[in-house]
This record gives sequence, C-alpha cells and structure tokens, in this order.
Amino acid sequence: MPNAVWPLFDLRIRTPRLELRLPTDDDFPALLDVIHAGIHPPDTMPFEIPWTDAEGDELSRESMRFWWRSRGELTAEDWHLPFMVSMAGKVVGSQGVKGTGFPALREVETGSWVGMAYQGQGIGKEMRAAVLHFAFAGLGAEVARSGAWADNAASIAVSRALGYEDDGTRRGLRRDVPAEQVRFRMTREGWEDARADRRHPVVTLDGVGPCLALLGAA
Ligand SMILES: CC(C)(COP(=O)(O)OP(=O)(O)OC[C@H]1O[C@@H](n2cnc3c(N)ncnc32)[C@H](O)[C@@H]1OP(=O)(O)O)[C@@H](O)C(=O)NCCC(=O)NCCS
Repeated sequence: MPNAVWPLFDLRIRTPRLELRLPTDDDFPALLDVIHAGIHPPDTMPFEIPWTDAEGDELSRESMRFWWRSRGELTAEDWHLPFMVSMAGKVVGSQGVKGTGFPALREVETGSWVGMAYQGQGIGKEMRAAVLHFAFAGLGAEVARSGAWADNAASIAVSRALGYEDDGTRRGLRRDVPAEQVRFRMTREGWEDARADRRHPVVTLDGVGPCLALLGAA
C-alpha cells in the first residue's frame, strides 16, 4: 500500500548494485547488525559526533533515536534522510543527505558509513553518487557539500573520485580534541560534467514527486 501521508517511505534510489530507501522500524535489526559488526576500528573516529563510541544496547538505542528523530523533526526547512543501503538484498550501510534552509538555499550536505565487511568494494562511491543524483536531478539542488577529518583517506577519495572540488578546511573537535576537517563542494555544473565524463554510475529514482513539497523542493 502506498504511504500517501508519509511518501518518503516509498522513495527508492537505485544504482547498478545498490538500492537506497528510508528504513522502517522493521529494518532496524538488520541495520543494527551491521553497526554492531563494526564501521571503523575503535581507535579511530571518522564521525564528528562520536556516536559509535556507545556500546551494546545503548548503541542500538542511540541509533534508533537518530532514525526516529529524522522522521519526527522533518520539516521543509530542515530535513535529514538517512537512507539504508542494500546490495543484493543485504544491508551494507547508510547514506544520509540533509537540507537546511533548502527552499531558499538549494544546498544539501551528505554523510555516510559502510560496514567494515563491505568497505573497499566501491559501495561508498556508488551510494554517494546515488544521493547526489537524488539531490540534483530529483530535488533541483544547486550545491552539495561534504567533509571529512583530514586523515579519512577513504571518504576523501570518494569525494575526489566523484568530482567534488576542494572547499577549504575547518577545525572541529574530535572526541574533544581539536582536529582538521577538509571540506568538499559539488555544484550542479560539476555534477553534470562528472556525469558526462561517466564518472558516476547510472542512477534511477522512484517516488520522488510526492515528496517534493515535504522537502521544500516543489
Ligand atoms: C568512507 C566510506 C563510506 C567509503 O566507503 P567504501 O565503500 O569503503 O569506499 P569505496 O570502496 O567506494 O572507495 C572509494 C575510494 O576510496 C578509496 N579507498 C577506500 N578505502 C581506502 C583507504 N582505507 N585508504 C585510502 N583510500 C581508500 C578507493 O580506492 C576509492 O578510490 P578510487 O575511486 O580513487 O579508487 C567507508 O570507508 C566508511 O564507512 N568508513 C567509516 C565511516 C566513515 O568514514 N564515514 C564517512 C565519515 S566523513
């Protein structure tokens, strides 16, 4: 049955290998399995908010609060879509995209993780290309931004491979210690050029129309 009142659950973004959709509560166990199996070695922290430092049930609860909040707090002015990423029917990671002031700014920011067991197979690149397509082709975005701690070689490689341009640096606190972040920016023109150069996979969108007004993109 289509989710007429909450059409975001019907959104599908597909690449040659991946499907992205928003998780329902029934999807939480599979996502939590990947999170508990490990996203990064414990002695590193790739995220700005160190949510993976929580353990056991608290890590599960924190993750669930995050997914519930993303639904409960969604407005056209301020939204965050934490897409669940599956490959051959198995959950492999999450690719988020958020819009703050999207109706006027037409900008999105992305963030992501892939379970350690699935890293290094091009999934990170494919799922980022998927949400870029969703943002530019689906929502009419003008700019997409991303950032990573300066020592996160994999995340930086994803941005560079997809054709983002460097956008300076910023200092932030990582586990309460000052650290350098590198910033990346993709304009609509840059995205079109990268696609013309076949640096992105073919992406298809399903169910975007009914979500446009909810996301301030109508
Ligand atoms: C960052 C992340 C999402 C990338 O996903 P992935 O599936 O491992 O990446 P891919 O296999 O698509 O690789 C993309 C690029 O990164 C490079 N790469 C992958 N792992 C790397 C590593 N450990 N060191 C250097 N480069 C690496 C690949 O060679 C590839 O570059 P290329 O296209 O120029 O050859 C994933 O590693 C991850 O979840 N890491 C932990 C969480 C995290 O860092 N999230 C992002 C926070 S900003």
